[in-house]
Amino acid sequence: MTYVVTTEPEQHRFMCEDHETLLDAALRQGLVIPYGCRSGSCGACKGRILEGTFDYEHANLSGLNKIDPESGDILLCQARAKSDLRIAVREIERAEEIEIKQMPCRVSELQKLTHDVMQMYLTLPANERLQYLAGQYLVFLLRDGRRRAFSIANAPEHDERLELHIRYVRDGDFTHYVFNELKVRDILRIEAPLGNFYLRHHDFPIIFVAGGTGFAPIKAMIEQAIIEQLKRPMLLYWGVQSKRDFYQLDLIESWLKQSPYLQFIPVLSEPNATDNWQGRVGWVHEAVLADVPDLATYEIYASGPPIMVATAQAEFTALGLPVEQFFSDPFEYAYDRPKKTG
Ligand code: FES
Repeated sequence: MTYVVTTEPEQHRFMCEDHETLLDAALRQGLVIPYGCRSGSCGACKGRILEGTFDYEHANLSGLNKIDPESGDILLCQARAKSDLRIAVREIERAEEIEIKQMPCRVSELQKLTHDVMQMYLTLPANERLQYLAGQYLVFLLRDGRRRAFSIANAPEHDERLELHIRYVRDGDFTHYVFNELKVRDILRIEAPLGNFYLRHHDFPIIFVAGGTGFAPIKAMIEQAIIEQLKRPMLLYWGVQSKRDFYQLDLIESWLKQSPYLQFIPVLSEPNATDNWQGRVGWVHEAVLADVPDLATYEIYASGPPIMVATAQAEFTALGLPVEQFFSDPFEYAYDRPKKTG
């Protein structure tokens, strides 16, 4: 069975299957409701039933002491709809409304995606989840007080496990550590979520402009768009130096099969002779300008080296893109610093 859930006071509606929790259904359809553990123990996902029936079948209710069930309060991460519902709930509209947490996490997988990009998976402690918006980033809190920041590369649907794409920086102390010393099962400490780079719920068609591992937050956004079945045209431009710098192309292929709204335009800045490249050559933002001369009706999400992002913003806005329709990742944070400057 599928039920209609209406939120108050925002009057948003979402569909809830009887096998899923109210929280899962809301998140799947793009509503952002505060939560913590997603396992029934913290009370952070509190809502209130105003109309309709629900049940707690198969639920963990150890967090019930954190709410007042007598007054109609429910744990949205555990409750399942048994009829159409009207619920009172606080919805998150902006990234700043999400609580920033510090927590330990375990390195659960390390795998090279290219000659200089490491894919790292972090697993959170049992019963901990990290609420974030697709596109945001985390920082590693290192023992000597230094911080190193990386975009989260997966959509928050599976927020118990965080994916990062870490590019090796010559003489970079942290990336040297990641590529040469860090091991699966090691424990790191993180602070997250951070940043204002996330998909806005507007109607404009979208252009994603990624440079190198700036692909990571854009990957998270596209995954989220596919989960939400977003019906907005989306152009993904991804620029790298030569063919060996691309990764996860199979994943992009699978997205293209899932979403008729998505197109992918790969761009190489310096293809090798052996690349046998028939595709686009040049700077990635120039490929956008060549294809879409009138950007005024688009929303742009750009992530990559600061020079790429700054140039894209300057050239796009000079040609008519309203500045409020350009969103970027402050990617300086992802650049590791040489050992000597720490
Ligand atoms: S998110 Fe912790 S109890 Fe629901």
